[in-house]
Amino acid sequence: MKSTMVVFVALLFLELFTLVTMINISFCIGNPNVGCVDSERQALLKLKQDLSDPSNRLASWNIGDGDCCAWDGVVCNNFTGHVLQLNLGNPNPNYGTGSKLVGKINPSLFDLKHLIHLDLSDNDFQGIQTPSYLGSLKNLRYLNLSGAEFAGVIPHQLGNISNLQYLDLSKSYYELQVESISWLSGLSFLEHLDLSLVDLTKSSDGLVTINSLPSLKVLKLSYCELHHFPSLPSTNFSSLKALDLSGNHFNNSLFQYSSWVFGLRNLVFFDLSDNEFHGKIPSGLGNLTFLRHLDLSSNEFNSAIPGWLSKLNDLEFLSLRELGGQIPTSFVRLCKLTSIDVSYVKLGQDLSQVLDIFSSCGAYALESLVLSGCHICGHLTNQLGQFKSLHTLELRDNSLSGPLPPALGELSSMKNLDLFNNTLDGAIPMSLGQLSHLELLDLSNNRLNGTLSEIHFVNLTKLTSFSAFGNSLIFKVNQSWVPPFQLEKLRLRSCHLGPQFPSWLRSQKHLFILDISNTRISDTIPRWFWNSISQYVYLNLSTNQIYGEIPNCDRPLPLVPSPGLLDLSNNALSGSIFHLICKRENEADNIYVYLKLSKNYFSGDIPDCWMNWPNLLVLNLGLSILNLRSNKLHGSLPIQLCRLNSLQILDVAHNSLSGIIPRCINNFTAMAAANSSDQDNAISYIRGGVSDVFEDASVVTKGFMVEYNTILNLVRIMDISNNNFSGEVPKELTNLMGLQSLNFSHNLFTGKIPENIGNMRSIESLDFSMNQLSGKVPQSMSSLSFLNHLNLSYNNLTGKIPSSTQLQSMDASSFAGNNLCGAPLPNCPEKNALVPEDRNENGNEDEDEVDWLLYVSMALGFVLGFWCFMGPLLINRRWRYKYCYFLDGCVDRFGCPVRKCY
Ligand SMILES: *[C@@H]1O[C@H](CO)[C@@H](O)[C@H](O)[C@H]1NC(C)=O
Ligand SMILES: *[C@@H]1O[C@H](CO)[C@@H](O)[C@H](O)[C@H]1NC(C)=O
Ligand SMILES: *[C@@H]1O[C@H](CO)[C@@H](O)[C@H](O)[C@H]1NC(C)=O
Ligand SMILES: *[C@@H]1O[C@H](CO)[C@@H](O)[C@H](O)[C@H]1NC(C)=O
Ligand SMILES: *[C@@H]1O[C@H](CO)[C@@H](O)[C@H](O)[C@H]1NC(C)=O
Ligand SMILES: *[C@@H]1O[C@H](CO)[C@@H](O)[C@H](O)[C@H]1NC(C)=O
Ligand SMILES: *[C@@H]1O[C@H](CO)[C@@H](O)[C@H](O)[C@H]1NC(C)=O
Ligand SMILES: *[C@@H]1O[C@H](CO)[C@@H](O)[C@H](O)[C@H]1NC(C)=O
Repeated sequence: MKSTMVVFVALLFLELFTLVTMINISFCIGNPNVGCVDSERQALLKLKQDLSDPSNRLASWNIGDGDCCAWDGVVCNNFTGHVLQLNLGNPNPNYGTGSKLVGKINPSLFDLKHLIHLDLSDNDFQGIQTPSYLGSLKNLRYLNLSGAEFAGVIPHQLGNISNLQYLDLSKSYYELQVESISWLSGLSFLEHLDLSLVDLTKSSDGLVTINSLPSLKVLKLSYCELHHFPSLPSTNFSSLKALDLSGNHFNNSLFQYSSWVFGLRNLVFFDLSDNEFHGKIPSGLGNLTFLRHLDLSSNEFNSAIPGWLSKLNDLEFLSLRELGGQIPTSFVRLCKLTSIDVSYVKLGQDLSQVLDIFSSCGAYALESLVLSGCHICGHLTNQLGQFKSLHTLELRDNSLSGPLPPALGELSSMKNLDLFNNTLDGAIPMSLGQLSHLELLDLSNNRLNGTLSEIHFVNLTKLTSFSAFGNSLIFKVNQSWVPPFQLEKLRLRSCHLGPQFPSWLRSQKHLFILDISNTRISDTIPRWFWNSISQYVYLNLSTNQIYGEIPNCDRPLPLVPSPGLLDLSNNALSGSIFHLICKRENEADNIYVYLKLSKNYFSGDIPDCWMNWPNLLVLNLGLSILNLRSNKLHGSLPIQLCRLNSLQILDVAHNSLSGIIPRCINNFTAMAAANSSDQDNAISYIRGGVSDVFEDASVVTKGFMVEYNTILNLVRIMDISNNNFSGEVPKELTNLMGLQSLNFSHNLFTGKIPENIGNMRSIESLDFSMNQLSGKVPQSMSSLSFLNHLNLSYNNLTGKIPSSTQLQSMDASSFAGNNLCGAPLPNCPEKNALVPEDRNENGNEDEDEVDWLLYVSMALGFVLGFWCFMGPLLINRRWRYKYCYFLDGCVDRFGCPVRKCY
């Protein structure tokens, strides 16, 4: 990846250099700094007006400050004072939503007629149409709208910017399309074209146009839905140096009918990853002898790693992820290789064999070695210490065993060390503390033991992400320790941190993901921590013995910059949850979508200040969960709860709540909607920056605990079991047609089961057991075709169980403790049954057949429901890639193409 960047950055610099030199030549003759042109200053101020700027990047853009040439991001011609460059690209694109400019582009941009360089990349223009008037900025040479969240059809007017040399329209999360790209033919000076993630389905012959661009050096068409390339009579763009065709649907016909590809002799960078190539790797690639970067990963090639690859001896980066075979020993000749990725190739080799091959040039030049999931066994030995240039070592998901060698400390360039999911054991060597360049360290899911102390971190000044969960490590540092690093992510689940709350966290001002669940903390949460809670997007303190009350904080709680997770469950917190729920004003942008407070000793009423929440939830940040399970809450459900109309999970089970269920319960519109835009929710959610919130949302359904990992947004659950609720089950409940699991068991409900219960077509799990319900089992229940868990036991129900495949397929225990009869219970007494019931059964014969069909579709339905969400991620790679792109750090969840981060 590094080399990819290097190549691109190098080319970019080349272009910029040309540009800058040109500016110098044309303008350095005059009197510098005439100051800014007033009309352009006004234009910039208007531009600022339409943008929200949470990180204050435009702070210098002041009405009071006259010379706009001195403003951040603005570069003027020193002679005429005209604005030449606008550099508004987001400097921290991977940092959540924090540094984005958000809003519209004021058309006053059009007044900056002298612009030659416009960079708006990685901001959030919220899916507005790409402004067509950009086409009238005729002097533009550089236009970068990458990741700027424009949508719709790319305006053909861009073809009027005839001087354009650099055009980047890639990486919009919104759908960007082209009707045709014939307009590109007007851009004869174009050298760099990036349309990655733009839907080019309608322009499958676009390459003919692109081929007419004689100056093109860099072409990136990654994840563009391209299927086949036309065969070209001749290639005009023989000057092409970089070609990225990854993530399309190309198969072998690209090679058969478009052998021009192998004529691109100047190619330095070639990416064909994540396509549909199969069979052998075409040996024509061996003719591209200038190649320095070659990525063939994630295809269906079924050949082993070919030995002739070693002919490409300029190769610096090689990714063969998911190919077959072993690393050929001829690779010893690839002395310039600095980066190799063969992850998920079943090498089955011993680590030392692999290291031997890459050390045989004697240079130990390797910078990046990615061997994840390679079935590699053996030990990490001191041999590793000789790879002094190594900055990335990824060995996750292998079978490495034994201890970490002390020579680890000699890897003086190391930045990313990922040893996740092996069977490494023993203590962590002190020498770890010498890796002064280390940024990311993942030792999770191993068998490491022993104690981690200050010495292990002494020189880790650059560490930003540390994971060591799933080991038996003891974290023992002085209470007054001030670590040398500023972490962003820390995951220590199941390590031993306690009994005191780790006071060194106080120094960590950038931490936004923190998991110290199950770490034996037996302490109160210090006030400084409560006050810092707003910095977390993911905060998991569950399964400790944290006690005390939630204080009334200086800063109200919770206050996160984007939707996130707060899990305080399974502790010994007590008192009221008032301050957590209630101290909220004007916080439209701030909401935890996942709030888990279960298994504590919270007491008192459920506060009736939910009115503070609804604005937030209506903002489509719902995926919202309210879990107050297993506390000592008493009183009734406040009617204000009904204002939470994005609520998807309501879990107040195992409390001492009483009273009736408010009739406004049908106001939970998220539960009522069977089809909401789940995917949009998921995306808008994910765009908040963290994938981890999907982890570990456990809810009780279908009679047992199910971990609804990753599919939370499909689940709509109400569990009010084990309380003292009384009165009738409100009829309004049956309006919640999206509800999938309903548990009213172990309460004091009386009256009948609502006649229309059959309306709740999405119900999969229904539990009314241990109440005092009477009357018949409603006939409509037989149409609950998704039902696969039912418990009506121990009520006072009477009569015959309605016929349907669903109900009859339940276990008899589902109906026990009532006065019911008929399958699956014993038949009803003849006398009662004969006249009315027999007729009923005859009348039902057709229905039974229908039910049988429903039964079949039930299975289908579940599968479809589940795949509605996951399906597109797995089937549509472009979509999946977009999704992954917004996942924090491009983690390899959801089958994401790892290492495909730009
Ligand atoms: C442009 O001019 C400035 C000062 O006149 C000089 O420092 C700089 O090196 C020049 N840049 C290029 C790329 O020639
Ligand atoms: C314009 O002037 C500023 C300050 O004097 C200088 O830093 C900058 O390099 C100049 N720009 C050009 C294009 O010469
Ligand atoms: C590779 O180069 C050789 C010799 O120049 C040539 O004969 C062969 O056709 C080329 N292969 C391809 C696929 O272009
Ligand atoms: C750990 O790695 C093995 C392969 O060695 C893989 O099968 C397994 O799924 C991985 N476990 C996790 C939790 O990623
Ligand atoms: C930490 O770094 C400093 C300066 O780079 C060096 O002098 C010192 O020896 C290092 N300490 C350890 C324990 O590596
Ligand atoms: C760590 O584990 C090793 C073997 O797995 C064992 O021999 C050693 O006693 C353990 N050390 C500690 C401190 O638990
Ligand atoms: C139901 O929701 C609507 C908004 O959708 C709200 O205006 C109304 O007050 C809610 N009803 C109750 C009883 O809370
Ligand atoms: C059960 O229902 C019958 C009538 O349907 C009623 O007479 C009886 O009192 C009820 N029992 C309980 C415990 O509610």
